[in-house]
This record gives sequence, structure tokens and C-alpha cells, in this order.
Amino acid sequence: MSTYSRAIDIINNRRIAAKTQNENRIAEVEKAVPEIAEVNRVLSQSSINILRIITKGENVQENMKQLEKSNLQAQEMVKNLLVKNGYPKDYLDLKYTCSRCSDTGFCNGVRCSCLNETAGKLAVQELNQTSPLKLSTFDTFNLEYYRGVSTASDTDCFTTMSNNLDYCRKYTATFSRNTANNVFITGKTGLGKTHLSLAIAERLLSMNWNVVYGSSINLMDRIESEHFGRSEGDTLGIITDADLLIIDDLGTEYDKQFCTSTMYNIINTRLNKNIPTIISTNLSLQEIEVRYEPRIVSRIVSHYDILKFSGNDVRQMIRLDYVGRQKTL
Ligand SMILES: Nc1ncnc2c1ncn2[C@@H]1O[C@H](COP(=O)(O)OP(=O)(O)OP(=O)(O)O)[C@@H](O)[C@H]1O
Ligand SMILES: [Mg+2]
Ligand SMILES: [Zn+2]
Repeated sequence: MSTYSRAIDIINNRRIAAKTQNENRIAEVEKAVPEIAEVNRVLSQSSINILRIITKGENVQENMKQLEKSNLQAQEMVKNLLVKNGYPKDYLDLKYTCSRCSDTGFCNGVRCSCLNETAGKLAVQELNQTSPLKLSTFDTFNLEYYRGVSTASDTDCFTTMSNNLDYCRKYTATFSRNTANNVFITGKTGLGKTHLSLAIAERLLSMNWNVVYGSSINLMDRIESEHFGRSEGDTLGIITDADLLIIDDLGTEYDKQFCTSTMYNIINTRLNKNIPTIISTNLSLQEIEVRYEPRIVSRIVSHYDILKFSGNDVRQMIRLDYVGRQKTL
């Protein structure tokens, strides 16, 4: 089923749920407040009578006016009775999720923004499906791996990494589509770049932001095969519009013209739209300069916060620890 058909299904279900809730409330209130049941009964009877007269063609305008007037009066009476009996005034109003299209998905035959939003969310979910979002969270990020570690370029990896963790936590706490910064995360293999990127994605997705996380090679593969008609989809459209795009492992995609110019396009489009991107890579800025055209590098340097990760390879430490534990078992 296409993303749009699934989105339409979701919106239809919202409409059905709103109607069902409304019918249940009417039944509940009519039972508890017999006066309301009486008003509703009289009202529907008088509408039928008036409609009968109208269909006969007698005094159409005059009767329509009277029908409207008695409708309004009755609604007012019902509202007063609701309040008097301890219900909210709008308890019997139909509550659609989207008041623009009354949960039909269309306004005057044109797709409502709620339909586009729902389809966008579904497409994002689909793109994120393969990421291990639940495993890599802030809570499972352990700073002890960096304690006491120094490297050639960093004498205090623990402080660097606890600052990086703080930065990422604050990033999610203060995130919004048009104010969040772009971030460039760089560091050698196994230092937790993917872990923290996924933690950001997981946190923001749970706050309902449209976040797309993908490794550079996977995103490029999808875009390329859609571009050349080998598969269907609009990955490029989705990722150039997501609230946050996280491109992991920049530099692992194929080194060919199509990929580098697409990467430039994505980075540039998002900068122009003033929406944030996080890039993580184990290439240094100097290596990026060699690999990509100067215009990409200059955009990153001038528009991105640069987070340098340092320490020893945690992937390896976890593996060694695991092996060690196996031995002592
Ligand atoms: N501080 C940490 N606390 C707990 N687990 C960590 C930490 N850092 C990394 N890991 C774990 O170690 C493994 C490697 O980390 P990660 O994939 O984030 O490294 P990376 O910097 O993205 O490496 P690469 O450059 O190879 O992609 C993952 O399983 C991750 O969950
Ligand atoms: Mg990684
Ligand atoms: Zn709508």
C-alpha cells in the first residue's frame, strides 16, 4: 500500500473515531440529563416538519430561516443544560483532529496539510525502520570509557566527551526546526558518534519531531535508485524537508559525481531553508576537503558546530570486556 493510501486510512479512522466518540457522548448525556434528550427529540421532530413544508415548496426562505433559528436556540439550550449538569460546554461538539478538513484529508478537492503531514511521518518512519534507535540512548552512553584516556590530540578525553554528551542532551532539550544548530561530529572509529546521533534521533522522534536518520551510503543508494527509476519513493524530498536530518558516516558513500553533487544539494538546500542537519564522520575536516568540493567544506566550517570525539575505540573495549567475561565464566 502506498504511503498516501496508508495516510488516508489513518485520517479516515480519525474521522470515524471522532464520530463514534460524539455518538457515545450524546447517548451518555441523554441518559444522564433527560431535558437534553427532550430538546434533541423536539428539535429533530421540528426539523422534519419544517423540511416537509420546504419540500412542498411553501415559503422556502421563511421556513429555512425558522429552522436555522430554532436550531441555534436548541444548541444554546443544550449547552446551558450541559454546564448546569457539570459537563464542559463543548462536550457534545464533534472533535476532529483537523478542523480544516474535518478529518477527510481534503479541502475543496485539494490535499489538506494534515494529509501531507501524516504521509510525511509515515515516510520518515519507513526510512528510520532499519536503525537500532532503541539501543543507543543517552542513558546507555557511558562516560567511564573515556576516563583517564588521553590521545595525541586530546589530553583529557573524559572532559571532551562529557561536554559532547552535554551538548547533545541540550540539543534535544532545546530543539526546534528553525532554531537548532547544524552539527558536524568528527572522530575516529568506535568513539560513540553513531551512538549519540541515534540517541538524539530517538529522543526527538519521541517528541514527535520528524527526524530522519540514515547512513550516508544507504541514503545515497536510495536516492540514486529512485533517481534512475529503479525503485519508487521520494527519499530526496523527505530528507530535504525533515525537521532534522542526521547523515551518519559521511564519506562511506561511493565517491562519484552523482553522490557528491547530491550531498552538496542536500546540505545546501537545508541551509537555505534554515533547517538543521547533523553530519557524523570519521573523516577529519582536512580529509573532507580532499574528498569533497570546497563549497561543501566552506559551508560546514561556517554553518556547523563542530564536535570532536576523542578516546579509545569503545567498540573494541566492549568486545574485549565481553571476551574477558566469557573467560572468567
Ligand atoms: N560511551 C559509550 N557508552 C556505551 N556504549 C558505547 C559508547 N560509545 C560507543 N558505544 C558502543 O560502541 C559501539 C560503537 O560505537 P559507535 O557505533 O557509536 O561508534 P562510531 O563513532 O559511530 O564509530 P564508526 O566511526 O566506526 O562509525 C556501539 O555499539 C555503541 O553503542
Ligand atoms: Mg558510526
Ligand atoms: Zn486536514
